[in-house]
Order: sequence, then structure tokens, then C-alpha cells
Amino acid sequence: MLRVAVVGVSGRMGICLIKAAVLSEQTEFTASVSRAESISVGKDAGELAGIGHADIPVVGDLEQVLDQFDVLIDFTRPEPSLEYIEICRRAGKKIVVGTTGFTDEQKAIVAEAAKDVAIVLAPNMSVGVNLSLKLLEMTAKVMGDYTDIEVIEAHHRHKVDAPSGTALRMGEVVADAIGRDLKDCAIYGREGDTGERDRKTIGFSTIRAGDIVGEHTVMFADEGERVEITHKATSRMTFANGAVRAAVWLKDKENGLFDMQDVLGLS
Ligand SMILES: NC(=O)c1ccc[n+]([C@@H]2O[C@H](COP(=O)([O-])OP(=O)(O)OC[C@H]3O[C@@H](n4cnc5c(N)ncnc54)[C@H](OP(=O)(O)O)[C@@H]3O)[C@@H](O)[C@H]2O)c1
Repeated sequence: MLRVAVVGVSGRMGICLIKAAVLSEQTEFTASVSRAESISVGKDAGELAGIGHADIPVVGDLEQVLDQFDVLIDFTRPEPSLEYIEICRRAGKKIVVGTTGFTDEQKAIVAEAAKDVAIVLAPNMSVGVNLSLKLLEMTAKVMGDYTDIEVIEAHHRHKVDAPSGTALRMGEVVADAIGRDLKDCAIYGREGDTGERDRKTIGFSTIRAGDIVGEHTVMFADEGERVEITHKATSRMTFANGAVRAAVWLKDKENGLFDMQDVLGLS
């Protein structure tokens, strides 16, 4: 049985990750970590996740439980994620990172760490979203050159980064498929005297409202018809189950940086 530890256990995703690691038949949930100042430290992780006593106390320092897991799952914030990755790199522990909002420099640090340990880094771990990325690549190759491409995403009011990591990944996949660089062609929101739309741009629109778990639509619009590819997540367990699947997939990997396309065999 693969031993899984979860960091950031007091977060929305942390709680789902505990449940997913406990429920999976291929993993055993063996350790849980919060920030040292978190009110979760000292509590039982199972009780925190609402699944009954698990006899796994939440600790305030990953170093304390390094010998208790094979793979770490981390859905937190970029800065703490980089610290957790560095601890895992030094200890030779594999890690699944679902945190979003990394800068290019921070992504380069993750890639450097992956020379020593195996890492799955994906802004969206849901199977449906990753299938959507494949469909987007196909659609962009057929329609991308002559249509207007817009990415629209919606998330709950507590989300702190925008556009979502998934929306940006969708934009990158589409841009790559048609030989554009997203950095040069992305337009993030519009206001005022914008002028006519430039065909070569990829537009992003962000909605933050209520308890929306995560919705993404990419529109390829021509005069006379348009194709829209939409994914809607209705439960965070979809991301948590994907993360546990990624942890199991990492079992035989020594080092390297992977994403969910690799995990699902869609690369
Ligand atoms: N890849 C995917 O499929 C996917 C899906 C959903 C969300 N996400 C991403 O996962 C991350 C977590 O999302 P969430 O909704 O669970 O967020 P959240 O509820 O705010 O939880 C984040 C947790 O990270 C921990 N943390 C550690 N250091 C922190 C710091 N310096 N500042 C703030 N929190 C810190 C905290 O838990 P402790 O107090 O226990 O340390 C906190 O509760 C975000 O980046 C989100 O975009 C990814």
C-alpha cells in the first residue's frame, strides 16, 4: 500500500485530499501537516476531515513525519509549496503538487527539483479537465487559425489567483497548437475603448462568485458557428481523487516533472 501524506490539511482541498487518500484502495493515509501556526496542529486529521478518528495527529512541520510517507500531496500556496518541495527533494520523497499561481521563476525551481525527485505538477487534477485539454488541442488545430478564441472561467469567492491556473493551461494548450505564444497574444479582461478584436488574441474572462467549484469554457467563434468546450466541476473530490491517482502513478518514477496528461496516458 502506498503511504500518502497531505500538507495544508486545514484547507478546502486538504480536507478532500484526506478523504480521497483514506478511501482509495491503493493508498494508506499516514501523515498530515499544517503550518506551525495553524489551529489544526494537534487535532486528529480524520476528525478534521469529518470521517471519524484516524489516529493521525496534524503536525506543524513536515520534517517531523518524513519517515512516515512515500508520496506527499500538496495543494497550498506557491511559497509554502516551494518549501515543501525542497524538503521532499532533500529527503528523496515524491510529491504531487496541485497548488496554482506559480510564477515562471517558481516553475523553474520546481523543474530543477524534479531532476532529483519525481513530481506531478498540474493546475487541475480532474480527469474531465485533462480530457478537455486534449479536445482543445484537436479543436485548435482545426479551427484555431480563423476563429476568435475566448476562455471564460468561474470560481468561488475565496479563490485568490486569476485567471485560474486551469484557464491559463487551456490558453497555453490552444496557443501551442496553433503556433502562438500565450505571453504575446493573451488579453486579460477588457474595458473602455478597446477597439475591434484582433483575431490573433486569446481573451480571458474571470468570474468570482459564491461557491462555484470550478467552470471553464473555451470558445472558438466564427461568423455562422462556434464550438464551445466546457468543463464543470461540482465537487472538489474530483481534484482530490485525481491527485491520489497521480500519487499512485508516481510509485515507480525516480525523478522527472510530469503532469496529469502523463498520469492519464494522454501525452
Ligand atoms: N490542481 C487542482 O486540481 C486544484 C484544484 C483546486 C484547487 N487547487 C489549488 O490548490 C490550492 C489550495 O486551494 P484551497 O481551495 O484548498 O485553498 P485554501 O482553502 O485557502 O487552503 C490552502 C491551505 O494551504 C495552507 N497554507 C500553507 N501555507 C500557507 C500560506 N502561507 N498562506 C495560505 N495558506 C497556506 C493552509 O493550510 P494549513 O493551515 O493546514 O497549513 C491553507 O488552509 C490553491 O492554489 C488552489 O488554486 C488546485
